[in-house]
Amino acid sequence: MNLDIFTLFPEAFGWLTGQRPVRKAIERGSRIDLRDYRDWTPLKGGRVDDAPYGGGAGMVLRVDVVDAALNGVYGDGDRPRTVVLTPSGRLLDEPMVSELASEPRLALLSGRYEGFDQRVHDHLADDEISIGRYVLAGGELPAMVVADAIMRKLPGALGDPDSAVEESYSEALEGMPEYPHYTRPPDYRGWSVPEVLVSGDHARVREWRMEQSRRREGRR
Ligand SMILES: C[S@@+](CC[C@H](N)C(=O)[O-])C[C@H]1O[C@@H](n2cnc3c(N)ncnc32)[C@H](O)[C@@H]1O
Repeated sequence: MNLDIFTLFPEAFGWLTGQRPVRKAIERGSRIDLRDYRDWTPLKGGRVDDAPYGGGAGMVLRVDVVDAALNGVYGDGDRPRTVVLTPSGRLLDEPMVSELASEPRLALLSGRYEGFDQRVHDHLADDEISIGRYVLAGGELPAMVVADAIMRKLPGALGDPDSAVEESYSEALEGMPEYPHYTRPPDYRGWSVPEVLVSGDHARVREWRMEQSRRREGRR
């Protein structure tokens, strides 16, 4: 996976690329390249935004600036699947993460201010993704959420690849949330571990876990 993250704040991503699953995926040949819109802006003084037509508060990221950045990275050739991050996009979920992880190359457009000129959504992007129905100051955290979710699916990212086989929303759990986990001590301040988990009966453990997942699914 080659992931290009377009942003005004590349320095914000230091933590992401240093933490284990992402670092391991990069060591195994994946890439995250941070692309600063300002490096390609055709406007003077590194400017990237302008006031909205029709008036109103805030500034809007310009379509010519975003297009120049995409051209700067991909030239006249084919562009990879391009995802614009926006609060009003399709809500990110596990099937979409798996779908994105199967792309050889992906561009994430991270916004700021009032967001992008609508022509970025209409003509430059293939998908609009939201990480939740709330508004953050910028697309850096959403881009990190998407990148982390994708990179941990790649071979070699997780210490134990089985961790990703049976986890919340996986096929192994029929798309349900994961069951609860417990570890030592078996009893703490009277809060004891469910008896079935220390029974050594694997069939009962499996049945209990699936039941717990079903209960959590029911509560969702
Ligand atoms: C302050 S927000 C713009 C909000 C926009 N004016 C609105 O009301 O929908 C600036 C940027 O942050 C990013 N962003 C904020 N919240 C997000 C979310 N929940 N999901 C994805 N991206 C988000 C987007 O890239 C957006 O362009």
